[in-house]
Amino acid sequence: MQWDWESKSCSRLSMYSQELKALQKANLYRSRELYDTKLTDLASNDYLGLAEDFEIFDKAVEAVRNCRSHSPKASQLVNGYHDIHFQFENYLKWRSGFEEAMVVGSGFLANLSLIEALPRKKDILILDEEYHASGMLASKLLSCEVLFFRHNDAAHLRQLLQSHTYQRAIVAVEGIYSMGGDLLEKEIFTVCDEMKALLIVDEAHSVGVLGDDFLGIFSYHDIIPKPNHIKMGTLGKAMGSYGAYILASDAVITFLLNRAKAVIYATAPSVFDIALAHQAFLQVEVKKDLFAAKKEARKALVKEIFDVDLEGLILKIEIGDSAKVMALKAFALKEGFLIGAIRPPTVKKAILRVILRLNVDEKRLRDFLIKLKEAVG
Ligand SMILES: Cc1ncc(COP(=O)(O)O)c(C=O)c1O
Repeated sequence: MQWDWESKSCSRLSMYSQELKALQKANLYRSRELYDTKLTDLASNDYLGLAEDFEIFDKAVEAVRNCRSHSPKASQLVNGYHDIHFQFENYLKWRSGFEEAMVVGSGFLANLSLIEALPRKKDILILDEEYHASGMLASKLLSCEVLFFRHNDAAHLRQLLQSHTYQRAIVAVEGIYSMGGDLLEKEIFTVCDEMKALLIVDEAHSVGVLGDDFLGIFSYHDIIPKPNHIKMGTLGKAMGSYGAYILASDAVITFLLNRAKAVIYATAPSVFDIALAHQAFLQVEVKKDLFAAKKEARKALVKEIFDVDLEGLILKIEIGDSAKVMALKAFALKEGFLIGAIRPPTVKKAILRVILRLNVDEKRLRDFLIKLKEAVG
């Protein structure tokens, strides 16, 4: 068969176009867009506005310029482990109270590393039913038993842990759930500690958002890290950079360095992005009081307009209909705002996801939220 870019009759590819047509018909087709940069961004996960902070960018450039190389060049297990990585890991350990730290290329790779490597044959993996797609995907690679507990339901988790036999139990949850914006129940820590389960907490959306120090759900719930706790944080959201890290016991980190394929067989994280993330953490330390005051103001605004009590900075508005959610996104665009229109299969029913970024002008935000509330009806 001739492979011809123009040919519409290439049957191997037409399979894909049929599937795409079905997605279009169901209003579930996705595409990338280069949005007008003049739009006010209420869609990205840049909660604190650090992605537009060029002071930290310049400092990161300076830090990397002082190094012999600006690229990791190889896996961390070859010679890709860079002084910039090492310094950042030490900083994270010092701030968080965990025994050991490890940088990873992205949050997706970090979840793949944790979920694919930690559960062994006789173990059991129990995921919150709303856990991120990266963990769900990794769980399909396992030979051990995989279970799901009802979203954020500590009693159900306890019941599953008590009613199964296993060598070791590994539980995976999120600090703030990425789509619903709701917070991890503190009781889940208690259940895992009592049942001696390893607990993986994905803090992708809670680092830089929760706690007086903005370090995430551990600080928010006043949890002192224990040997069974594992914290994963991403750098491409509130920290305005790219990449991720895992904080855990020395035993877990050493095991991952020897077993996690997404770490061993991948180039080490970008040196510049880690330097930038390090500067972002330092900036959060300096500006935490300012951020806390702005966050309080955002919470008050959402309470006033939508009568919703927010803890994080994700406002979820349930819509249900995928066509309507797209129409509301178009309405927001006309008003000069970019908001998230999230449809199945990412969520069960279509929602608007509005991120109350702290660097957006409060008055502009208020005016828009009032109009959006009216448009939602
Ligand atoms: C909860 C959660 N975990 C993990 C990831 C993956 O992180 P990253 O974008 O750094 O790959 C994301 C986001 O994309 C996420 O929302």
